[in-house]
Amino acid sequence: MKKNSETSLLDRIDPAAILNALPAPVIVIDERDAIALVNPAAEQFFDSGANTLLGRPLSVLLPADSTVAALVRQVRGEGRSISESAVTIDTLRAGPRHVAVDVAPLSDGAASVVVSLHERAIARKLDRQLGHRNAARSVAAMAALLAHEVKNPLSGIRGAAQLLEQNAGEEDRAMTRLICEETDRIVALVDRMNLFADGGPMVRRAVNIHQVLDRVAEVASAGFAKGLQIVKNYDPSLPPVDGHRDLLVQALLNLVKNAAEVVPPNHGRIELMTRYRQGVRLAVPGSGARVELPLEISVGDNGPGVSPDLASRLFEPFVSSKSDGRGLGLSLVAKVVGDHGGVVEFDSEPGATVFRLMLPAADEEDREP
Ligand SMILES: Nc1ncnc2c1ncn2[C@@H]1O[C@H](COP(=O)(O)OP(=O)(O)OP(=O)(O)O)[C@@H](O)[C@H]1O
Ligand SMILES: [Mg+2]
Repeated sequence: MKKNSETSLLDRIDPAAILNALPAPVIVIDERDAIALVNPAAEQFFDSGANTLLGRPLSVLLPADSTVAALVRQVRGEGRSISESAVTIDTLRAGPRHVAVDVAPLSDGAASVVVSLHERAIARKLDRQLGHRNAARSVAAMAALLAHEVKNPLSGIRGAAQLLEQNAGEEDRAMTRLICEETDRIVALVDRMNLFADGGPMVRRAVNIHQVLDRVAEVASAGFAKGLQIVKNYDPSLPPVDGHRDLLVQALLNLVKNAAEVVPPNHGRIELMTRYRQGVRLAVPGSGARVELPLEISVGDNGPGVSPDLASRLFEPFVSSKSDGRGLGLSLVAKVVGDHGGVVEFDSEPGATVFRLMLPAADEEDREP
């Protein structure tokens, strides 16, 4: 702005032209919640022309109980900008859209705010989720094969080794013990893969996720997370999850275990968090239906973060950066969450990694007292 050349450029350009050129939908909302400005990207996004929108209440575009409307109120209240990364907007004409939202106060002294939307590549994300499910299915098929071709013969081998052990000298006994230990290890691995096998339709009921998390924290701090700080940050009013308790325990244990394996041993911190998020919806593939996923359960850690070269394949089976890792933990998480109709995602940077599950709430009538 200071340089002359820039001043003259700005003199020549109408600020509106900049807004018009922006590919992101931008809306300005005045202090009475009326639409004061929309750029062409916003007109396109909402499939409505500026002349029909200007001066009309925001509610013609977005329901009053939508996340964006809530963000607008929050920004006015707090006087600072807020971003939300995963919002589903139910546009009245253009249907549901998945976006990241930035809402900022305008420095005009009044309570006007500017909202900008960024479409997320949710389709890609969904594809990835479906990809995880397919991957889980191939793990299940492989587990069945291994159970048949490996586990059964192994139990024969183990039995034979135990027989030999009875008449073996001390030196040979070390060998037979080795055979037994190694067969046990392989059987345990095949059993772990068997978790992916489909045991018929999953029976779901109203599950108190805080009890699940407490249980996970208890198991973790008695074992693999001993000495680490586990912080609970619960929304006490969270409704129950429509889910399968034991599978949820298993999935969350895997997330907490991963966190425990990467945090600094002397000041490791793992945070278990729950919150209610309105407006997160997901289309059910193959049907017109959409599910609401308002329950967010997250596991955060202060470890070094997910290594960037793994990030895109993290939920695939057998992807691991650990010398003794099987790469099965996160694919199991993806499978469990997928079976719940939910979504798992993560954000990671050095010192702050968080894995989030978005899950459906149980119906009122299914709730336990
Ligand atoms: N909280 C985390 N911080 C950093 N990296 C992580 C985190 N969670 C998972 N990862 C990365 O994702 C990889 C895959 O995790 P996953 O749980 O599927 O397998 P694993 O932990 O390596 O092995 P397994 O769980 O089968 O013992 C890990 O090896 C690690 O590189
Ligand atoms: Mg793991």
